[in-house]
Amino acid sequence: MGKSERIQALRGEITRHDYHYHVLDSPLITDAEYDALVRELSALEAEHPELIVPSSPTQRVAPLPLTAFDTVRHRAPMLSLANAFDRAELESFDRRVRAGYDGPLQYVVELKIDGLAVAVRYENGQLVQAATRGDGETGEDITANMRTIRSLPLTLRMPLTLEARGEAFLPRTAFTKLNAERAKQGLHVFANPRNAAAGSLRQLDAREAAKRNLDVIFYALSEPETTDTQPESQVEALSLLARVGLKVSPLRQVADTIAEAYRLCLEYQAKRTTLPWDIDGMVIKVNSFAAQRQLGAIAKSPRWAIAYKFPAEQAITRLLNIEVTVGRTATLNPTAILDPVAIAGTQVSRASLHNAAFIADKDIRIGDFVYVAKAGDIIPEVLGPLPERRSGAEKPFVYPLNCPECGAAAVQRANEAAWRCPNPDCPALLRERIIHFVSREAMDVSGVGESLVASLLAHGLVRDAGDLYFLTREQLLSLPRLQAKSAAKVLAAIDKSRSHSLERLLTALGIPLVGTKAALTLAQVFGHLVRLAAARYEDLVAIPDIGDKIATSVTEFFALPSTRVLLDKLDRAGVNLAYLIRQDEATLLGLTFVITGTLPGLSREEATKLIAAHGGAVSSSVSARTSYLLAGEKAGSKLTQANALGVPVISWGDLQNMVDKKQ
Ligand code: IVH
Repeated sequence: MGKSERIQALRGEITRHDYHYHVLDSPLITDAEYDALVRELSALEAEHPELIVPSSPTQRVAPLPLTAFDTVRHRAPMLSLANAFDRAELESFDRRVRAGYDGPLQYVVELKIDGLAVAVRYENGQLVQAATRGDGETGEDITANMRTIRSLPLTLRMPLTLEARGEAFLPRTAFTKLNAERAKQGLHVFANPRNAAAGSLRQLDAREAAKRNLDVIFYALSEPETTDTQPESQVEALSLLARVGLKVSPLRQVADTIAEAYRLCLEYQAKRTTLPWDIDGMVIKVNSFAAQRQLGAIAKSPRWAIAYKFPAEQAITRLLNIEVTVGRTATLNPTAILDPVAIAGTQVSRASLHNAAFIADKDIRIGDFVYVAKAGDIIPEVLGPLPERRSGAEKPFVYPLNCPECGAAAVQRANEAAWRCPNPDCPALLRERIIHFVSREAMDVSGVGESLVASLLAHGLVRDAGDLYFLTREQLLSLPRLQAKSAAKVLAAIDKSRSHSLERLLTALGIPLVGTKAALTLAQVFGHLVRLAAARYEDLVAIPDIGDKIATSVTEFFALPSTRVLLDKLDRAGVNLAYLIRQDEATLLGLTFVITGTLPGLSREEATKLIAAHGGAVSSSVSARTSYLLAGEKAGSKLTQANALGVPVISWGDLQNMVDKKQ
């Protein structure tokens, strides 16, 4: 084979592997084998520069930056879509469609990926141009940047002339990685993948765009000029796009009714966060092209398609002020006071600004327009400012040097972004700790709210949560505006909280990093607060789900003199310090296990946790008091001891049966 033939063959091979890897997500060869092909091609091309062509896979990234983008006039206008936000709006779309077309209808439901609309033109199978949507009539020539997208073929698998339209975007993982790198370099970070994709496609230097890991998914075939099989429907058009080697919308489901289409919308709305890319909604299109033609378009959007938009998880609003409050761990937390804005169905007027460094790094100023995000149940947070919308009247925020509540000079610990109030008697700190202690997920003391806690502290009746349990009726009645009836309710609620199981108390103590989940694990494994307080770091890290940070935090917490004082008070107050297993879960109550050998598919720590969660205890040596020896493979001397003492030996499967047996 001559050099020229070998070059041709290598280009074909590499293009085929690019397709399998980047479009189909299923590589045929290893990365090392692929790299060897590319190295061989590059070497041959270096020897014979006269044989280099733009469609060679080595030529994706232009070596020189552009000075400006050329303008591209679209052959057919790039339309946008009308929006629907609920079922009623989808139904009225359906009625409009049926009024404009009386034949039988089917809809196609696709994902609405949140990126930038692009049009990509191929002539005789060769990529010749890629453009942004622009105003729909003319856009910008972004061919150089689009060529860097590895899933975009430079040569189609069939020598067709066509224009494909789709969405260029940044997958979520690429977005996170890009922002992490930018933060490290001190560059501004992007608020969301969409902005990051837009910024990347507007790079004049394709070498920069190439680093961003952009991707593109196509959803429309525009003007197929030379195909023998002219598609008659959206589904056929998408399958033609897939056949020529383009990545197409991964969901293209046919729905016979708008109700079915709506059901799909809800299904994907629920799982949107599990997808590898941001989607901001779903697109519903009339499938048949004949029906589409008859329905036509109004203004800038077609009558045959609609976007069902998910409730936004991000919004832009004005930052009116920044308040600094003292948290229960003594951190000084900046909170954004916002012009109220609706996000995902709720009004948001306050959002976290994390810490002083965040405000400084992002250069967030009072009066700025800011991005605010709220995902699920998470506390809303400010993502960053929109500097291009500044008027000049915005004011940089001067972070207070003192605690806003007690005036103590703020301090910063090594390796920590947060500033703290160092005053252990800071009234805000005492208040926040008690408010957390009585909160619903902790000791759930109904009737003791923020204002009562503030009042109790102000009148010197409590200093910490333990004091709550020594309050008398007379003391409560001495407070202003507290009726006898509510005093009785408060005392009853406090009394009731004495008998909660340990995990609630552990949550209530507010040990840094210990939330409800870790609290339950610790309660189950140690069974009693006194045992947990005595636990060593090594005992803690050995527990599944308890890592180095939590283990350190727990040991530090129990070493504090103030913790000792509080625990002593709680004990004297008759607060339950033990884990109270629910009757139906206590299937191993009173049994002691010893574990030996290798258990199938789980660690010894996981087995310990399972036993503890059902009320059993685990001991390290076999004795006459051992109820069972749990033996895995390669059990050694303990097995001999158990046999000698007559301790029953069980397998992992036996244990699972014992656990599942409901009493
Ligand atoms: S169809 C005439 N399908 O959403 C039809 N658009 O305003 C025009 N988009 O910026 C668009 N996914 O880039 C269509 N599966 C999809 C889409 C989609 C995302 C974008 C499109 C445009 C906006 C619609």
